[in-house]
Amino acid sequence: MDDPKLLKGKIVAQHVNQRVEKMVQLLNEHGVQPKLSVVLVGDDPASKVYVKRKGKSCEKLGIKSETIQLPDTTTEGELLDIIEQLNKDTDNHGILVQLPLPKQIREEVIIRSVNPLKDVDCFHPQNVGLLVTGNPYVLPCTPAGILEILKYYEIETEGKHAVIIGRSNIVGKPLANLLVQKQKMANATVSVIHSRTKDLAEYTRQADILIAAIGKAEFVHSDMIKDGTVVIDVGINRVDADNEKGYRLVGDVNFDSVFSKVARITPVPGGVGPMTIAMLMQNTITAASFQEGITIEKTAN
Ligand SMILES: NC(=O)c1ccc[n+]([C@@H]2O[C@H](COP(=O)([O-])OP(=O)(O)OC[C@H]3O[C@@H](n4cnc5c(N)ncnc54)[C@H](OP(=O)(O)O)[C@@H]3O)[C@@H](O)[C@H]2O)c1
Repeated sequence: MDDPKLLKGKIVAQHVNQRVEKMVQLLNEHGVQPKLSVVLVGDDPASKVYVKRKGKSCEKLGIKSETIQLPDTTTEGELLDIIEQLNKDTDNHGILVQLPLPKQIREEVIIRSVNPLKDVDCFHPQNVGLLVTGNPYVLPCTPAGILEILKYYEIETEGKHAVIIGRSNIVGKPLANLLVQKQKMANATVSVIHSRTKDLAEYTRQADILIAAIGKAEFVHSDMIKDGTVVIDVGINRVDADNEKGYRLVGDVNFDSVFSKVARITPVPGGVGPMTIAMLMQNTITAASFQEGITIEKTAN
């Protein structure tokens, strides 16, 4: 489908990747080979797919990558030892521990154990603090990808009411913190709503920009939005389908239901999804250049 209403993350991701490729070349000219290490614990099929995609993207852009695959039975102590080695390894600039982790491992302990300078996900409390106070080291990948889409398509956020459904530490909360900053491509009035919000639609109908990060297939319907809303659909949900795979991917928004009402909308797939990995690549370069003491122009287009 090719419609001017579509916000095509796939195209924006290509744009970011071109920028990253140039930055990789600059680092190479300084004798630096940026490197990302991804740690995967267990056999979760979705996590395996994401990790594989991250590795492929690194390869394509000239970023060295390593995947450390650990069994489901790995203890917290064993994982901490591996992270410690990666923290100390000066050839390694980025560490990503794929979530979720098995039950015996506390996520918050692992997140805090990663050297904040190598925290390419922006999950470490130090980096979250820098983000909230408006002086970020790197930006969290999915929220940063959403801002890139808005910027690329010149969608004004200043003075707009951005309503975010979902308050996760990965999407909802950091995105709210980015959109509320007193700066260009932010300056929005932000509402964050969630499963305990009373009369959800009362809020969503006020949205100029509606961001759905819920994890519930096709949750948002046309009667929940006003005409002219910009809709960013973060959701990735599998629903049964009569095709080879036996499923298809849908977002948290019922695309067909809202399409005639929206001003713009991100499709699923091909919307926010491709941006997350693109921003991870960019963060790896930011981390590498900072650790190596090399100044490169991040915003060079
Ligand atoms: N495109 C990408 O690259 C990307 C990246 C990350 C995530 N995702 C997708 O985005 C979706 C959200 O991910 P997440 O990690 O943020 O999920 P999450 O941690 O499960 O958080 C979901 C949020 O939605 C809220 N929620 C759930 N049911 C609700 C309801 N009936 N009404 C209102 N709010 C409700 C929850 O509220 P409570 O806090 O009250 O429980 C929670 O805040 C998932 O589909 C995920 O696969 C995509």
